Amino acid sequence: MQILGIDTSCDDTSAAVVKDGRCMLSNVVSGQNDIHLKFSGVVPELASRKHIEMIWPVVREALNLAGVEVADMGAIAVCKGPGLIGSLLVGCSFAKSLSYASGVPLIGVNHLEGHIYANFLEPEPPEFPFLALVVSGGHTSLFHAKEQGIYREVARTLDDAAGEAYDKVARLLGIGFPGGPIIDKLSRSADPTKVNFPRPYLKGRPDFSFSGLKTAVLYHHNKYPETPVEEIAAGFQASVIDVLVKKTLDEALRLELKTIVLSGGVSANSELRARMSNEASQKGIRVFLPSRELCTDNAAMIAAAGWHHLIAGDTAPMDLNPKAYLPLDEQVYKLTGQA
Ligand code: KG4
Ligand code: ZN
Repeated sequence: MQILGIDTSCDDTSAAVVKDGRCMLSNVVSGQNDIHLKFSGVVPELASRKHIEMIWPVVREALNLAGVEVADMGAIAVCKGPGLIGSLLVGCSFAKSLSYASGVPLIGVNHLEGHIYANFLEPEPPEFPFLALVVSGGHTSLFHAKEQGIYREVARTLDDAAGEAYDKVARLLGIGFPGGPIIDKLSRSADPTKVNFPRPYLKGRPDFSFSGLKTAVLYHHNKYPETPVEEIAAGFQASVIDVLVKKTLDEALRLELKTIVLSGGVSANSELRARMSNEASQKGIRVFLPSRELCTDNAAMIAAAGWHHLIAGDTAPMDLNPKAYLPLDEQVYKLTGQA
């Protein structure tokens, strides 16, 4: 069964066709970095206007590349949140219209569940149960994924998401947008021990906090403007990765989980991928990583998660209303009778 996936949660307009939740036939992502670059961050109003312009060409291209038509689809899966509400409304309104006009069932997918399901598009998908680190521009959370559709959030950021901290640090250093890939690259050419930033471990609780670290970078940059930017970048990244790796491993050990699944834009980070894999394997824990292009926002992950909802008979009504705030562990979707 083929699913058309649509994601317009932030600043990427994306559409994809995925077969049986596993086989990606197309995955088109139209970014808006050029629009938001001069603001060093996503401007919601501009993002939603661009989605309106791009949604139909992007969906058309995804169907063409897969060699299919809407009528061939088993369902249309759309991201229903969390995200920027103006952006989400474009994708949801479009998907609802397409579903109504074609008679193809509609499915609403939580964006965070989509990120986790990017891993199911890889040749060897993870098996439940596992600990999922969702680390992106909007989220930094750990979910105990017990089985398909059953998630419990065991840790979250109390302030900035890790990707948000990357973007804000890049902005204050004046090195571009989005900050994650730029800092990732700069860090490779510098010694991460030259500038030592604090590690916000929040002793005694599993949650994350990155806003103090961002402030520490700001103070350092103001006090020592001569410090090479790549040394600051490397020092900042070392702190973020130390915290993400330690807290994820601690939680996996506490919950006695033998599998960790990474997802979200920051999981494209080379240092995070290498460190998490190495340190987990020393503890007998296996790490699953989506390929880099499936870490950042895309619609293939929405289609992959949507397929499981379709199999469970969980289709969405025509009055599906997207939500900017939509916790993953509140979703009322069950395969097994469990809430
Ligand atoms: O998942 P995503 O595309 O959108 C959200 O759902 O937020 O994540 C975007 C975030 C941005 O903050 C970006 O700076 C970060 O992911 N990012 C990275 C890397 N690539 C993207 N952060 C660190 N290292 C990277 N290589
Ligand atoms: Zn995302």
